[in-house]
Amino acid sequence: MRKNIVAGNWKMNNELSQTETLISDLKKQTKTSNAEVMIAPTFTNLWHAFEATRDHDIEVIAQNMHYADSGAYTGEVSAEMLKSVGVKTVILGHSERRAYFNETDELLAKKVDAALKNDMRIIFCFGEELSDRKSNRHEKVVESQIKNALFHLSNSAFKQIVLAYEPVWAIGTGETASPEQAQDMHAFIRKTLANTYGNDLANSVSILYGGSVKPNNAQEIFSKPDVDGGLIGGASLNAEDFYAIVNAF
Ligand code: PGA
Repeated sequence: MRKNIVAGNWKMNNELSQTETLISDLKKQTKTSNAEVMIAPTFTNLWHAFEATRDHDIEVIAQNMHYADSGAYTGEVSAEMLKSVGVKTVILGHSERRAYFNETDELLAKKVDAALKNDMRIIFCFGEELSDRKSNRHEKVVESQIKNALFHLSNSAFKQIVLAYEPVWAIGTGETASPEQAQDMHAFIRKTLANTYGNDLANSVSILYGGSVKPNNAQEIFSKPDVDGGLIGGASLNAEDFYAIVNAF
């Protein structure tokens, strides 16, 4: 059985006191679904978030990391540093990292290897731009993003990967992929996985959808057979909205 996962990507929002408040609000919510719940605060608040959720089933995850173990990389954070504050899962390849920080497939392959070397789980993000979809290249783009960064992995290493399909045109825009568009792409991704790694692996990998998931559209999107959860930006900054999405399964 694949895991259902709802992960909140807080991006560059919430300083310490806001982090405290949001976590205490999240802990007041009731979970009625079987989804695993994750939140990704900014680096400076990871330790606090980890401590504040020790008695709770919310997992605290990171938004990014560097591929090197340590060294002269000013401003960067390594897998070992993340692990030392309790983080076991990292988001890699978010479209904002790709667009604003020039993260390429090649760089992401190195980050993937570094995270796996440190026994971390990865939420690997990818997705096409609007122009790709308009020119009907969306499947090609997604296929190459996944293949270039992940397809050097062994079957067993791939078990540490959660995929997150996030069409760039739907992130933070209020425009969501239709449930059918999400399902079609997720089925395509699963077929692509099956062709290289076999059906068992393909059927065990959770594929999340991200891009303007809100309480009012989550249920329809999550009802699709190949959608195993969501990576939530804006709506994860409000505890009630976030748990309405968590409970949409
Ligand atoms: P959004 O962001 O929900 O605000 O569109 C999703 C994401 O960037 O992961």
